[in-house]
Amino acid sequence: MAASDQRNIVLTGFMGTGKTRVGIELARRLGRKLVDVDTEIERTEGVRISDIFAQRGEAGFREIETAKVREISLRSGLIVSTGGGVVLKDENMEALREKGVIVCVTASPETILERTGKRTNRPLLDVADPMARIVELLEERRPFYENADITVATDGKTPIQVAEEILDALRWKK
Ligand code: S3P
Repeated sequence: MAASDQRNIVLTGFMGTGKTRVGIELARRLGRKLVDVDTEIERTEGVRISDIFAQRGEAGFREIETAKVREISLRSGLIVSTGGGVVLKDENMEALREKGVIVCVTASPETILERTGKRTNRPLLDVADPMARIVELLEERRPFYENADITVATDGKTPIQVAEEILDALRWKK
């Protein structure tokens, strides 16, 4: 990817794979703006993601998410960090691909559990057995995550290391 390439770098991947933290690093390195889909949703809706799930259910959240993805996809020169379920709708991915390269970050179920365990605001993992839920959702979503241009594993790596790997891969793919 040449420096003049204004395509968005779109980070996809399961919850807890480090999309936002890696996005912050990429934005810093490239001097670009980071747009986090969930943060934008919370900003415009004025409530937390968990409240949207509680009030409107997952289907209601997905509608809001798709509208936000469509809006962000019109812009270029961004680092876009998506929510873990954005990949589930073809419509979302088609919009993001128009001006972006899709980079999926992955992690093992153990790493995901460790990284998501301490935080709230992830309604899908707010269950009695989050590990079972992670394994189940990962399996269900595997084909969607696999549909990326580049995939980088994040286990045992810092966000800086992952960002460097992504930048190497993008240059290589030039
Ligand atoms: C979701 C992931 C979350 C958030 C929502 C649903 C999912 O984002 O969009 O809770 O379906 O995987 P993160 O991947 O940033 O946690």
